Amino acid sequence: MCGVVAVIGKQYASQFVVEGLKKLEYRGYDSAGIASLCGGILQTVKSEGKLTNLINNLSQISNANLYSDSKISIGHTRWATHGNISVENAHPLTSENRVAVVHNGIIENYENIKNNLISEGYVFKSQTDTEVLPHLFMKYIKLGNNFLQAGRLVLQEIKGAFAFVAMSLDFPNELFVSRNSSPIAIGLGDKCNFVGSDARSIDHLTQKIIYLEDGDYALVQSNDVEIFNKNEEKANRKIINIKAEIGLVTKGGYKHFMEKEIFEQPVVIPQTISPFMNGISEIKIDLNKFGFKNKNTLLIAAAGTSYYAAMVGKYWIEHIADLPVIIDLASEYRYRKPSIFGQAAMLVISQSGESLDTLMALRHGKELGLITNAIVNVEGSTIDREADFSLHTRAGSEIGVASTKSFTSQLVVLFIIALALGKKFKNFKLSQIQKYSNYIHTLPSAIARMLNMENEIKSVAHNIKNAKSIIFLGRGLLYPLALEGALKLKEISYIHAEGFAAGEMKHGPIALIEDQVPVIMFLVSDGNEDKAISNLQEAFSRGAQIILIADKECIKKAPFAHFKIEIPNFETDFKYFLSPILMAIPAQLLAYHVANERGTDVDQPRNLAKSVTVE
Ligand code: AGP
Repeated sequence: MCGVVAVIGKQYASQFVVEGLKKLEYRGYDSAGIASLCGGILQTVKSEGKLTNLINNLSQISNANLYSDSKISIGHTRWATHGNISVENAHPLTSENRVAVVHNGIIENYENIKNNLISEGYVFKSQTDTEVLPHLFMKYIKLGNNFLQAGRLVLQEIKGAFAFVAMSLDFPNELFVSRNSSPIAIGLGDKCNFVGSDARSIDHLTQKIIYLEDGDYALVQSNDVEIFNKNEEKANRKIINIKAEIGLVTKGGYKHFMEKEIFEQPVVIPQTISPFMNGISEIKIDLNKFGFKNKNTLLIAAAGTSYYAAMVGKYWIEHIADLPVIIDLASEYRYRKPSIFGQAAMLVISQSGESLDTLMALRHGKELGLITNAIVNVEGSTIDREADFSLHTRAGSEIGVASTKSFTSQLVVLFIIALALGKKFKNFKLSQIQKYSNYIHTLPSAIARMLNMENEIKSVAHNIKNAKSIIFLGRGLLYPLALEGALKLKEISYIHAEGFAAGEMKHGPIALIEDQVPVIMFLVSDGNEDKAISNLQEAFSRGAQIILIADKECIKKAPFAHFKIEIPNFETDFKYFLSPILMAIPAQLLAYHVANERGTDVDQPRNLAKSVTVE
């Protein structure tokens, strides 16, 4: 999704902006650009595609002093929303070559504003909603306003979710920054200051960060930052010290970040577990604080992979704690009038902590009077800051667009919550809860054993890499994994893939089965495995190529499968309860190796963004 970076007061500003943009690459983008004040002119350079194209363009432009002369520069990576992918639509967008703006989000009422500006003589060169911003600034500057006043007037006209940075030739020592729903951070330096879509994009420049709150805007100069709230009053926002994450952007010898992140799971899972456990089996979660004084229905909202984690969480919490759980897609929840009958708390799940759909669902829940909790990976992110209480996954930075280690970390936290609730509401015997708590500590080595299956998974990947369509099946706790397996595969390999609850096949999807269509099932013996195997048999009888990833017992029962991948031997209950975490590994490896064989852009797949900050 779009990213913005700005530097003021520091020599080589444009170079530092480009470095910041590199740190935002993981979010996904399709064009990039920068604007700098250099030699008394506003110099804008933009290009389609990857940042390397922008860097090549920068090195070819006639003004060789751009890098060394500029002390004020803004930059952008664009993920197209309004207008196709082109240089014209790339940011910064300018007005009369005197004002430049970089913007993340959407100006919802841009069409009216654009029509008015056109009638006033402003010429639009792009199809974007953003272009109204530089023209509005220009209009108010021409009317005699200073940069701050002009910015205030612009904000009075626009509606939507946005974060933007503006600069002007008429005010060469000022940046105007504003935020409404989309995140933005200001970094404080010595006689220089910085702006970025997240703290990480500017952590090579400073570790002192201020997060703007919703409705805030700021005038940033090299030696001063003035922040105002939505009521135009001066606001003091906390300065946070962040630690620079050294080595963050290296692949550590792996070909892709996704591969590295898959193999990091045995290390990040114990990191995630440790703050929640006292010793081997005592769980440290204050459930009263989270809104679970009494037995109420829990609402969980999330998007994408985080939503599939929520699905697993529902199964666990209902089974282990006998507590009703409603799960909702964040993008649906916020536009409904949901009944909160019997509810006291909601939980949102987000790796980035910036998914706008999930943030809006959280705000919606808050307005409805629910206590809001979040499972979030990025500390200091908007969801982390706005939730009443956060439970952090400590998966570390996840750069690949496909969620891998953050998914299994979310599952671990959900399992711990389910156990804590089970204990509180005395649904299971204490000895049983203790047994399951002990399981948590054996997870890292179990995951490492699952990772040893890589070669077998690779050979399946090789076999299905040219399929047009692939079907994933699962039942019970492994139904969400069928959905996750399909999502992972389609997002990075671009092969059409769908996940279904195995029992649903005969209600429609079985019509999709034709000769050689790969059907992949994750399965462990849970007492109902015969039912799942019958569903698989039905697909086999219609010509499907059957791939069964399962334990020994299930494999024995499905001799007809074309590929049988046996998972390592684990204790029965462990294998059953934690099967969603275990099976996430072959699902991720399969998607990775299919995509790798097809030569797609594994870490930054087309059209996708790591943190989805538009609706
Ligand atoms: C997963 O592989 C996806 N890239 C995507 O579905 C992601 O899980 C979703 O956008 C939610 O993101 P979040 O966890 O950062 O809120």
